[in-house]
Amino acid sequence: MPGAVENTASPASSDTGRSIGEQRPLRVGILGCGHVGAALVALLQRDAAHLGGRTGLELEIARVAVRNLSAERSVELPPSVLTRDSESLVTADDVDIVVEAMGGIEPARHLTTAALGAGKPVVTANKELIANVGEELFALAEDHGVDLAFEAAVAGGIPLIGVLRHSLIGERITRVMGIVNGTTNFILTRMTEHGADYAEVLGEAQRLGYAEADPTADVEGSDAGAKAAILAMTAFGAKVVAGDVHQEGISRIGRRDIVAAARMGHVIKLLAVAERQNGEIAVRVHPAMVPLDHPLASVRDAFNAVFLEGEAVGDVMLYGRGAGGFPTAGAMLGDLIRVAQNLRRGVCDSFGPLCAARLRPIDETFTAYHLQFDVADAPGVLAAVSGAFGQHGVSIRSVEQTTRGGATDDVAHLEFITHRAREADVAATLRDVRELSVVRRVGNAIRVIGE
Ligand code: NDP
Ligand code: HSE
Repeated sequence: MPGAVENTASPASSDTGRSIGEQRPLRVGILGCGHVGAALVALLQRDAAHLGGRTGLELEIARVAVRNLSAERSVELPPSVLTRDSESLVTADDVDIVVEAMGGIEPARHLTTAALGAGKPVVTANKELIANVGEELFALAEDHGVDLAFEAAVAGGIPLIGVLRHSLIGERITRVMGIVNGTTNFILTRMTEHGADYAEVLGEAQRLGYAEADPTADVEGSDAGAKAAILAMTAFGAKVVAGDVHQEGISRIGRRDIVAAARMGHVIKLLAVAERQNGEIAVRVHPAMVPLDHPLASVRDAFNAVFLEGEAVGDVMLYGRGAGGFPTAGAMLGDLIRVAQNLRRGVCDSFGPLCAARLRPIDETFTAYHLQFDVADAPGVLAAVSGAFGQHGVSIRSVEQTTRGGATDDVAHLEFITHRAREADVAATLRDVRELSVVRRVGNAIRVIGE
């Protein structure tokens, strides 16, 4: 895992032939000037004097690459700085450090590869990139003795990766659990507190700059899944990629689920969980009912929060803005300064080797569940449904028959909460219940934490 290593990639080389160790401005090339890139430009423009005073660094924006040169921007840049030529930017002599704020795997992957190959450190906010091809990029950075920094890729402005890579590097982390997607937390908060319409709130999250270019990544869980993979990789030093993460999003969550959670004194949150147990790692993203007295229940809007559990340190909780241009740019600026300081000293932070991980399949994980069914309101029906639970060894903690939900004169609404049960056994129970002729509708199965 991390440690400072000597930068062997001739830090002295530059177009002027002067050493990077000399106090000349360090020139930054930025890929992307959208929500995040533009906020970073604004911070660099606004805070230049403050940054110089605090760090002794002068950071100069040399080039900014975008797709559309004539698009309106929230920041002003000289025409000589704005370019469509991202290929040249990453290897240009007048660029010392590359910032990647464009998103997606390609062309970000080959541009990052080219920058690192040219001995230029890279700062990225791109979770998709790190979660899918992080290992190859870390190896390349290491080969060239330069930094690849990615604080902003997980939980926006929260200093989480730095805590894992530096402050808690000596800890044996056993579990990381939290809310790591701002868009879905914003949507769920509005649906819970204002009864808002899903599609409308998603549109608002997009306007506020929280959502990904394709918001399916937010609502179907792949954005949080990529972040969960990065957290597992960073916390456990293990090879975990986005494809290893079990992902469920919030698009199926409806009014009935939110009301059912509220009646139990819970709220629904999209959780990312990475845990290490008996040499195995389990990583998943799914909606869950969280009791109101749990600290994660009070994380509202686009805020994120992450619990880290370490063997020596115990519980650590980090909370902050998980999305939005400025919080994310703030995290990138911190990376940029650290990378610039390393460049001056001719060192870099090594990510260290990743070990192969034995991944526990989702079927083998244990959680409590909230399950809802609409059934015929007739004698023996409750026994038939409960029987399916018993057959698969799923223990029922509580069951309630209500006149709410889908209940009518001849249809009863049943809500079960199970004790912690094996995922595969809950799935088998649901399969059997679905086949009962007395069952009219099987509602969402939602995990419950804190049980
Ligand atoms: P935007 O869509 O707002 O901005 C993307 C920028 O990249 C645009 O300026 C776009 O140019 C430029 N771009 C895209 N493709 C190319 C290309 N092929 N060549 C040159 N420029 C290109 O995205 P965000 O700013 O929201 O996100 C950027 C990154 O930050 C993503 O990886 C995202 O996951 C990550 N992130 C975002 C957060 C957020 O809250 N928004 C929080 C944390 C991380 P043009 O403007 O001309 O279209
Ligand atoms: N779309 C992401 C979110 C941006 O909503 O959390 C921050 O990574």
